[in-house]
Amino acid sequence: MARTTKERDFMDNHGISAEWLGNYIEGFRGKDGNLHPLLEVKRIHSMKVRDNCALIADGLGWTGFLRDLALTAAVLHDAGRFLQFVTYGTFFDGASVDHGDLGGRVLEESFPWERLEGESAKATVLEAVRLHNKKFLPAGLSPEFLPVAEIVRDSDKIDVFRLVRRHVEENRVNDLLPRLNVGGGYSGELVRELEEEGQGSYRNVRSLADFLLVQLSWAFDLNFAPSFRILDGDGTFSWIAGRLPSHPAVDPFVDSVFRHVEAMA
Ligand SMILES: [Fe+2]
Repeated sequence: MARTTKERDFMDNHGISAEWLGNYIEGFRGKDGNLHPLLEVKRIHSMKVRDNCALIADGLGWTGFLRDLALTAAVLHDAGRFLQFVTYGTFFDGASVDHGDLGGRVLEESFPWERLEGESAKATVLEAVRLHNKKFLPAGLSPEFLPVAEIVRDSDKIDVFRLVRRHVEENRVNDLLPRLNVGGGYSGELVRELEEEGQGSYRNVRSLADFLLVQLSWAFDLNFAPSFRILDGDGTFSWIAGRLPSHPAVDPFVDSVFRHVEAMA
């Protein structure tokens, strides 16, 4: 189908954003010209999240401005990670700063908003960036912002699932998550949180088992059928379940995740 000129104009907001992010990241290279390996991970993550977003958007039949806006927000979602890391030496928000909020501030100050097409682009992208890492989306979020905020959260989670799995399989998860106790069981606080709220948060994560359990609970926070299909296609949920220690409070939760995935995929 032929695109209108107006629609075609909108199609490259995400290209402009990727170009800006690439240049922004250049400023974080050391005197030797190298980017810290963990910042390189975030650079690649940003592109993978954009690619995941494109797959989900295509699965949903999103086209034109909405698709482009979603990809724009996906590319920029972790803009706060770079300043967070050089300022605090960690990606752990609990010990530093909320990186979604920081990303919003970085973009407000440094992004060339005048280059983006579309009246609502700035507000929608900033909202999606600020909200991408929050435990839940706010109940009263405007329907104008909701789809892009939701697709960025799904796209981000898919790459984090893959990233963590790869690092666990290569026995180097501590490169990615330095504070994690690889051998330990579940923390009591996390199990309580899961029982009370149905979702665990990073705040209570101590061990790899905790982290994988929090990741599994993300199944209840995925928004779109294509996201479930992508993750199910990877065998993600079974892979995690196969690594979780058995626990009387956790086992029924794992079963409920599988029922949910089956219903949603
Ligand atoms: Fe993030």
